[in-house]
Amino acid sequence: MGDRVTLFEVGPRDGLQNEARPVPAADKIRLIDLLSGAGLPKIEAASFVSSRWVPQMADAAVVMAGIRRAPSVLYTALTPNLRGLDDAIASRADEVAVFASASEGFSRANINCTIADSLARYREVADAARAAGLAVRGYVSCITQCPFDGAVEPDAVRRVADALLRLGCYEISLGDTLGRAAPCEIACLLRSLADDLPAERLAGHFHDTSGRALRNVEVALDAGLRTFDASVGGLGGCPYAPGASGNVASEALAARLAELGLETGVDIARLAEAAAFARSLRNRA
Ligand code: HMG
Ligand code: MG
Repeated sequence: MGDRVTLFEVGPRDGLQNEARPVPAADKIRLIDLLSGAGLPKIEAASFVSSRWVPQMADAAVVMAGIRRAPSVLYTALTPNLRGLDDAIASRADEVAVFASASEGFSRANINCTIADSLARYREVADAARAAGLAVRGYVSCITQCPFDGAVEPDAVRRVADALLRLGCYEISLGDTLGRAAPCEIACLLRSLADDLPAERLAGHFHDTSGRALRNVEVALDAGLRTFDASVGGLGGCPYAPGASGNVASEALAARLAELGLETGVDIARLAEAAAFARSLRNRA
């Protein structure tokens, strides 16, 4: 594997979906434009989910219409079903993501269905996305622990990740949704997945509740992963994962990867500006 790492920015979605008070669309747009200006190659800009479930993302279409599209950036969006996919296509998303869970409890809490039902629904979404010329990314949440079911076995992660690959996802983002995984648990999980899932098809999505996300990135690098999700300013969490905090901060990750001699193509100074703006959006009255 090479020494280039893709930083997949999820702050405008994973970060802002969790803000208690609404963030105006204009501020979301400004944040996304700051991130593209900082050279982030992929930005998860919005989420076309039910506004009953996540009101923070109700303005997804407005946000997608307002951003200044940088030609080198892929703007991606979460799509839980065909309706979300239609809206993402109408909003000119470059890529979409479906999101499943390795645990039944979180699947039920987050998307109101079993894992099996979610995979059946995602097959339709993936087929329709491909027919529209869009790549599909897959998330697997709760890779070591579920807020409702407790410990999660690697086999459960393998089954869901494998199913998502089979339905056409080009990459699987492995989510430590609670942000409490220890580096040895991540290393053990990745060792266990290695025979069935190639490292180049996997990404790390580490929330940072216990302050171990950067170390989890490092063990994932050792296992060959070269794509990591991160949230500018460390924003976020999931509204359906009580107690979870934001993803590893993009600026901390970019700095650490640079120290390790790994290329991201990100402009650290401009990312710091975006991070300052992101932090100003947090818990704003
Ligand atoms: P449901 O209640 O089972 O489905 O929700 P429904 O079909 O009965 O729909 C309920 C209402 O939502 C209806 O409206 C639908 O029309 C509407 P009503 O008739 O009641 O007025 N609706 C929609 N509206 C807009 N866009 C849509 C859409 N679909 C239905 N696409 C559903 C099922 C999946 C829709 C719901 O559970 C949902 O939207 N869940 C999303 C939850 C979410 O976004 N969670 C956060 C993202 S996941 C995450 O953060 C984890 C991740 O970061 C990885 C990690 O950290 O592990 C990715
Ligand atoms: Mg997340």
